[in-house]
Amino acid sequence: MPKPQLSKTILVTGCSSGFGLLIAARLAGRGHTVYATMRDESKKTPLINEVNRRGGAVRVLTLDVTDQESIQSAMTTIAEEEGALDVLVNNAGFGIAGAFEDLSDADIREQMEVNFFGVQNMCRQAIPLMRQRRGSKIINISSVSGFSAAPCVGAYVASKWALEGFSESLFYELKLFGIHVALVQPGSYKTKIFYENRRYAKNFGNPQSPYFKLSQTLKKMVDHQIDQSKKDPEDVARLVEKIVRSSRPAFRYIPDAESRLMATCRKILPFRLYSALVERVTIKPVMDV
Ligand SMILES: NC(=O)c1ccc[n+]([C@@H]2O[C@H](COP(=O)([O-])OP(=O)(O)OC[C@H]3O[C@@H](n4cnc5c(N)ncnc54)[C@H](OP(=O)(O)O)[C@@H]3O)[C@@H](O)[C@H]2O)c1
Repeated sequence: MPKPQLSKTILVTGCSSGFGLLIAARLAGRGHTVYATMRDESKKTPLINEVNRRGGAVRVLTLDVTDQESIQSAMTTIAEEEGALDVLVNNAGFGIAGAFEDLSDADIREQMEVNFFGVQNMCRQAIPLMRQRRGSKIINISSVSGFSAAPCVGAYVASKWALEGFSESLFYELKLFGIHVALVQPGSYKTKIFYENRRYAKNFGNPQSPYFKLSQTLKKMVDHQIDQSKKDPEDVARLVEKIVRSSRPAFRYIPDAESRLMATCRKILPFRLYSALVERVTIKPVMDV
């Protein structure tokens, strides 16, 4: 396929499923040079099928965001083949469900290791390659959990909240080199993060836990909400493409209307009111049982 005039070199993490797969396939379909990375290459078939369906090509590389060597190897490949990196999409992540007291220290550290330190590992090794060209972009996939908390997702919320703060600092620092940093804050979309990739706190299923009723009720509610969800994960890929194309990108983007409303409420309502809304749909149903 002929490259578009503004073809960019793009690395996306976590391309074996979900948003990462769609982002890589969409950008490849637009003729960009896409390094679609995943930690287990034996999972590449769905991505390749999607890329073939849309047209285009991706270069699949093995990369675990917690493994410095795999990151370095990917960066060396890109440096040798392209000389620079225009766009880094930090998408890889997972979510662990459970109340703080049900989570082990290891549960929480692993969550931070991937969703927060994983992004830092990527940035540390990618930025020198991105400085080669002005106008490069780092796009971090955050979440509505980056600005709004709920019970039984504290570790995930902490990882995204940390990502938000880090991204905002980096946004200023990288102005020096003309590198733009953007955050994408999706609401809930039906991807593997809520199914086979969902993780649970050490004591999530323990009936002796003081949080058992709460965590099981919330799990049922979330499962139902996700099963019914009509939101299209392609919205996130479309938005990332828009950021890639933009000559004056914003800092924060929210793909879905529901989450935009949530962000507005969070901004304008006093916490007493906002938290009462969250309690009404999370804590209250358990108290009423
Ligand atoms: N879906 C939603 O509702 C939603 C909402 C807001 C934000 N997000 C965020 O969107 C991002 C993508 O999630 P998704 O919904 O597309 O879920 P997904 O389908 O479960 O995809 C997650 C991807 O991350 C990869 N991954 C996990 N740990 C990794 C590691 N250590 N190194 C490299 N890759 C790793 C997974 O690879 P494996 O296949 O090897 O596990 C998979 O490719 C995450 O950052 C998530 O927090 C999702």
